[in-house]
Amino acid sequence: MAKRRILQFPRGFLWGTASSSHQCEGGNTNNQWYRWEQQGHILTGESSGDAIQWWEDAESDFNLAEQMENNALRLSLEWSRIEPVEGQWDSAALDRYRAMLTDLRRRHLKPIVTLHHFTVPLWFADRGGFTHQENIRLFVRYVTHTIRALRDLCDFWITINEPNVYATQGYVIGSYPPGEQDLVRAFQVMRNMIQAHVESFYAIRRLQPAGQIGYCLHYRLFDPANRLSLLDRGVATLQDTFFNWAILQAAETGHFTLPFNLLLAGIERAAGARDFHGVNYYTREMVRFDPTLPMELFGRRFVRPNAIRNDPGLDNNFGEIYPRGIYRILKSVYRHTRGNKPIYITENGFSDALDDRRPRAILEHLAMIHRAISEGIPVRGYLHWSLVDNFEWNDGWGVRFGLIELDHSTKQRVPRPSASMFGEICRANAITGAIVERYAPEAADVVFGTGDVVQRQVPV
Ligand code: BGC
Repeated sequence: MAKRRILQFPRGFLWGTASSSHQCEGGNTNNQWYRWEQQGHILTGESSGDAIQWWEDAESDFNLAEQMENNALRLSLEWSRIEPVEGQWDSAALDRYRAMLTDLRRRHLKPIVTLHHFTVPLWFADRGGFTHQENIRLFVRYVTHTIRALRDLCDFWITINEPNVYATQGYVIGSYPPGEQDLVRAFQVMRNMIQAHVESFYAIRRLQPAGQIGYCLHYRLFDPANRLSLLDRGVATLQDTFFNWAILQAAETGHFTLPFNLLLAGIERAAGARDFHGVNYYTREMVRFDPTLPMELFGRRFVRPNAIRNDPGLDNNFGEIYPRGIYRILKSVYRHTRGNKPIYITENGFSDALDDRRPRAILEHLAMIHRAISEGIPVRGYLHWSLVDNFEWNDGWGVRFGLIELDHSTKQRVPRPSASMFGEICRANAITGAIVERYAPEAADVVFGTGDVVQRQVPV
């Protein structure tokens, strides 16, 4: 029997893009990332500057998202604008966010708002940030103030974006501020950020009982270089546990497992403190045992030879484009959380300036998400990283994640083919044969199951 050439997504599925304040707004001079830029850490020598000018005009880009028939948009709020000095609130900053959220709603784009996406005010960084447990209350105070001000315009909150990346890059690898290399501190930071999430969860719940509240983690695949090598498998598992699962387990149960519990206090009131799981997925790495790399948990990571790759950056090597990884991660998240909450893909994207791999990559990742849904995993939305090319942290303006291309000097926006394709998918709430034919016929095998994957239909 001929297979139907359509993958229909469930009714009410959220389709949109994701971004963050520092990467888009411009003029954020009062946070630790700005200071990091001034200290010359950005590898291209650039800085966020006026970014993509969302502080003046995010609305023109929201208009482009509306034209793509998205029904959601994820952005973040800049704590250093809302509370520029400890205990002092800037009502004009909140008014600007009110205007943005109002505009999104007018365009039928459901706002999904992140309260912490890598940046903190300078005053908070200088008090030790999340390394100190007693600073958690300062974050919760900011959250409380902000929710009171904006709760009539948003009911979908991501408290903290990727505590595992924040801690690993900032405190193990040292490539993000504050540039430290201290495994124990990294764990303390992760622990305190999850505790900050939990306390924020209860604070938001009190102020907005019907709100949806969660946090998101960055998940990466770590596969052994040689499956037959016990050492490669061991170090791959170690990296996988450290980066992906230790923190999720602790957030789920309140307890760290051995050996992490020897160092870290449990997380109070953690169980149940979320309404959804946010999954950010980009890539996989291969891992080979290397005794010279204790800070990397004895695993040398590399990109599989012959892999289809993202454009490399100077800092992060975004590595392999590996669609099946998103399916494997969804299965693992589901297993680790016993399927207790809906899942949203809060980020997935590709650095591809020429847009010659992105259309296929989007189709194949979506097909894998569809496969997970057809097997009963409750994925409720997909937010692509990102709408427009934006400031990519240590890589400056060097790598391009946007569906829409930015000419950095003129600020002109030019939609890439991926943008029209994504628009067609959102409009249809489906991947159709015609879409695949038009944008990436080479994806047909994976999408419609003539390759190694058999797609089932999902109830709509
Ligand atoms: C971060 C984004 C970043 C993206 C691409 C994610 O881990 O949340 O801020 O731009 O990766 O590097």
